[in-house]
Amino acid sequence: MNHIHSYYSPNNLYNKIISALNNLGRDLSKVTLADLQPVDEFHIRGETATKELIELAQFSPDMRILDVGCGVGGSTRRLSHETGCKVTGVDLSDEYIDAANRLTELLNMQDNVKFTAASALELPFDDNSFDGTWSIQMNMNVEDKLGWLKELYRVLKPGGRAVLYEVFENKNAPIYFPVPWAQDSSMSFLISSDSYRQIISTVGFKIEVWNDKTNLAQKAFARMKEPSGDLKLPALGLHMLIGDDFKTKSYNMRRNLDDDRLSLIETLLIK
Ligand SMILES: C[S@@+](CC[C@H](N)C(=O)[O-])C[C@H]1O[C@@H](n2cnc3c(N)ncnc32)[C@H](O)[C@@H]1O
Repeated sequence: MNHIHSYYSPNNLYNKIISALNNLGRDLSKVTLADLQPVDEFHIRGETATKELIELAQFSPDMRILDVGCGVGGSTRRLSHETGCKVTGVDLSDEYIDAANRLTELLNMQDNVKFTAASALELPFDDNSFDGTWSIQMNMNVEDKLGWLKELYRVLKPGGRAVLYEVFENKNAPIYFPVPWAQDSSMSFLISSDSYRQIISTVGFKIEVWNDKTNLAQKAFARMKEPSGDLKLPALGLHMLIGDDFKTKSYNMRRNLDDDRLSLIETLLIK
């Protein structure tokens, strides 16, 4: 797991985001969720997908929610902002968690949104602690799928809803590397969505909704070109989280989706 932790550990991330905001002329006392969106929603279809997941989840303001593999917390904050619920985010990366906490203070959302560094395989919470859970595109980095889903089940209250938005291998796997979650195959543990469904059921969850979003992912990456020449990167962007070969990784996403090597599923589970 150490190499996955290092992959998601850019130095000095929070200060780099602040410098980028300054360079873009943003007033730091008035930063909004939308200002941070280019860097803090690290998943396929960004903010649009997060809004669809919020609709799917139907979490209410009185609920306490856990976000596992939250990254720098863009979707965690958006979930709380749009539903009023209290959300705790956990992630393997200390650097992401540091940025997540400081960005949340910048937005003055710290009363409702908190972050702590932890592994999905050892969640630092009691049994039945959360009214709902969600996890966005972390599963690809987790080899022990059964262990992770058992942990998720353990911390969720009986009757609680779990939202997952996950990448799977498709019929023409293996995939081309690098991709946004992995430099090479040693960091990526993709299985088919059918195999994942079986593990979900073994753990005890009931599958309430299962939506295939692969076509939307294909459209999102359709214009990605093979990078060449001068690779101009935006002031604020996901390259700050995973490195300057971000465009190569995005282009490989296009190839993997076009060749039916990857699929994308959103699902709602009940404990
Ligand atoms: C593709 S990013 C998604 C981040 C976030 N969910 C989002 O949508 O912006 C994957 C995240 O999973 C985290 N991660 C990978 N393995 C993990 C593990 N075993 N436990 C907790 N977090 C993990 C990484 O550190 C990274 O932040």
